[in-house]
Amino acid sequence: MSHETIETLLDEDRRFPPSEAFAAAANVNDPAIYEAGEDIEAFWESHAKTFTWFEPWTKVLEWDLPFAKWFVGAKTNITVNCLDRHVEGGKADKTAFIWEGEPGDERIFTYAELLKEVCRFANALRALGVQKGDRVTLYLGMVPELAIAVLACARIGAPHSVVFGGFSPDSLRERIKDSDSKVLITGDGAWRRGGVVPLKANADIALEETPGVEHVVVVQRIGAEKAPVPMQAGRDHWWHELVADAADTCEPEVMDAEDLLFILYTSGTTGHPKGIAHTTGGYMVGTAMTHRWVFDIKDDDVYWCTADIGWVTGHSYIVYGPLANGCTSVMYEGGPDHPGKDRFWDIVERRGVTIFYTAPTAIRAFMGWGDEHPKSHDLSSLRLLGSVGEPINPEAWMWYHDTIGGGRCPIVDTWWQTETGGIMISPLPGLTTNKPGSAARALPGIHVDVVDEEGNHVDAPGGGLLVIRKPWPSMLRGIYGNPERYKDVYWSKFDGLYFAGDGAKLDEDGYYWLLGRVDDIMLVSGHNISTMEVESALVDHPAVAESAVVGRTHAVKGQAIAAFVTLMGGAEPSEEARAEIRQHVAAKIGPIGRPDDVYFAPALPKTRSGKIMRRLLRDIAEGREVGDTTTLADPGVVDTLRAQYEKHRS
Ligand code: WT7
Repeated sequence: MSHETIETLLDEDRRFPPSEAFAAAANVNDPAIYEAGEDIEAFWESHAKTFTWFEPWTKVLEWDLPFAKWFVGAKTNITVNCLDRHVEGGKADKTAFIWEGEPGDERIFTYAELLKEVCRFANALRALGVQKGDRVTLYLGMVPELAIAVLACARIGAPHSVVFGGFSPDSLRERIKDSDSKVLITGDGAWRRGGVVPLKANADIALEETPGVEHVVVVQRIGAEKAPVPMQAGRDHWWHELVADAADTCEPEVMDAEDLLFILYTSGTTGHPKGIAHTTGGYMVGTAMTHRWVFDIKDDDVYWCTADIGWVTGHSYIVYGPLANGCTSVMYEGGPDHPGKDRFWDIVERRGVTIFYTAPTAIRAFMGWGDEHPKSHDLSSLRLLGSVGEPINPEAWMWYHDTIGGGRCPIVDTWWQTETGGIMISPLPGLTTNKPGSAARALPGIHVDVVDEEGNHVDAPGGGLLVIRKPWPSMLRGIYGNPERYKDVYWSKFDGLYFAGDGAKLDEDGYYWLLGRVDDIMLVSGHNISTMEVESALVDHPAVAESAVVGRTHAVKGQAIAAFVTLMGGAEPSEEARAEIRQHVAAKIGPIGRPDDVYFAPALPKTRSGKIMRRLLRDIAEGREVGDTTTLADPGVVDTLRAQYEKHRS
């Protein structure tokens, strides 16, 4: 965001306090909770006590910076907290998931049914030889089996690594190899806007180079007619055949609070993704409590988080947090515009959704599609709205508030990361007076700050870099297999502080205004993609000699990907080359990596020492006045690129 945008943001003077009725009934309505959170150990211990543990902890926190252990020595199993304790505690027949398929089918699971399905598949995994500590990769669409498989892994102590179903065979292969997974769970395909994503075919390409995978389990979602899949004897198994005779009870593995629960890959500033490692006890307490506080979860709520379980939002706020709270959730398979652009509002109306959690990029798309879609449905069941993934601009905030929330629903703009495991900065809907565009304050028990380049605290009002000062239960425990990179990425910029990689402003009232990434990570539709990742996919194309990638502002996606390429001798710039290069990147990374703009240049703008001047590329991609070019080896390059921008826009 430019400096001007930030200043305009801070001029925002609309205020939205919770209604008296909402505040009075809210789970959290006493501001004393913030003071209680000052003593992190006493605070988190008091909440941890509300969970089921097989053995208690001997110490709340061991903090050997930057390595944390929470609830030291305690034993539990997160699925016992998510399932068994509700089944045994009177909620056996309460609905856990209302699942809607894209073609219009539905499946509903009570807590008792979900527990049985999880146990059956957990037994099937054990029968395949999966033991505590073995990694399992999941590559599926949003079918109930994805949630079931995640929980089944947790049941038997096998860390799961979910790879978003939109990723390419290359991305899948890299993640299977890095996690050294023994089993892959996939599907014959996934529905996406009426078409079929060929999951098993993609997986088979990846599997050519992953000798460590002994078994592949295939969920049949599409059927043999539209998605015929070859099954390799001895290696590939149909899910439905494996569970057919499996027992529906399964002894949960006894997990240490610090045993690995899952790995989830996120883009880093290098071409290689980072396997973010989360453990059992702290993650459970952190996600469940933040879910309860931020979404004000009550027993009769119907909660819907529209994320995909392939991202951390789905892990923490579709699977673990909501189930730990015994909540009823909607889970939806498909896209928001299939078959119609009112699909989400149709679901909200039919299911009586009370709490709705989505991303700013989706909200901006809805705005663009027109008010008639939400207006054609009764959205009066909604009482609370959430946003996650990137900064929400005040205009989108207001539209969400008025058009979706009917002016009566508080909005929780939740800032967090794959690495933080759970929400860190957010309004508490019964306490916070909202300012459109601000994520308000750090949650109780969470200690964030804004510092300058030297790591000094910045007084409000002021801006700088977002850091976290104290450990928190759901924090990442490291990067899988790479402790040095963990220290380097998060803990080396400032002494003793977690560096989040985001810019932020702090206003007079102690509210945070998130300003986006300060590193080479782009936020495209709220998803992390590193410029390096796209650059290496570009140079992988035989005609591309060199590339540089920058993020530019995009009205719907937040950021779009602009690629600058020089071609190999003999290759000519053309519309066909442009289309082919874009497609190549989509095939390498997945459709989310596809560049929006491709600029051809005889050479990239470089300094005389050979450093690409990204600042200038950003100026060009944004259509701004190009800054100082005096240090360029060949200033003429800028004019060539500039001319393409003009042509592109006209
Ligand atoms: C990055 C983390 C958290 C789940 C989804 C993304 C950006 C996330 C917000 C928000 C401003 C936000 C940050 C962060 N971000 N939520 N409410 N306001 N920015 O997880 O892929 O790990 O990305 O998303 O830049 O660092 P992720």
